[in-house]
Amino acid sequence: MATLGNNAKSGLVTALNGALADTMALYFKTKNFHWHVAGPRFRDLHLLFDEQAAQLIGTVDDIGERVRKNDEYTLTSIGTVASETQIKDQDDVTIAADAMVAELRDDNRKLHDRLSKVKEEAESVGDNATSGIVDDWIDQCEERIWFLNQTTK
Ligand SMILES: [Fe+2]
Repeated sequence: MATLGNNAKSGLVTALNGALADTMALYFKTKNFHWHVAGPRFRDLHLLFDEQAAQLIGTVDDIGERVRKNDEYTLTSIGTVASETQIKDQDDVTIAADAMVAELRDDNRKLHDRLSKVKEEAESVGDNATSGIVDDWIDQCEERIWFLNQTTK
């Protein structure tokens, strides 16, 4: 079992906390678009964004607890989420529905990269539990990318 400050796990912990930050930020952006989307596809996209937001928030606790089960510290605040996430804020509530879909698709691809890093780091230090559970997070992320991509065709 890892002990606090174990450098061998630092890459894994950084990747997990990065995935936590991205998931939190993407959750908020997806809800933001759920609230503000407009146009003829309002109902479909309003519901799709809500489903995806629920899926994102549903993984937050598991990601944080994989950090704690490795005896390390999780993110603690919106401030730490903001400093660690690669998901950029989108505060323009008037952007077109298609632009919202494309932005969420691209952001989910960024999260996918981060989750792939979690998988790689977990395998390299023999953390089998993280390696197993991250497969589910990746599968859900790929579903979100697929659904968003299909709506842009
Ligand atoms: Fe709602």
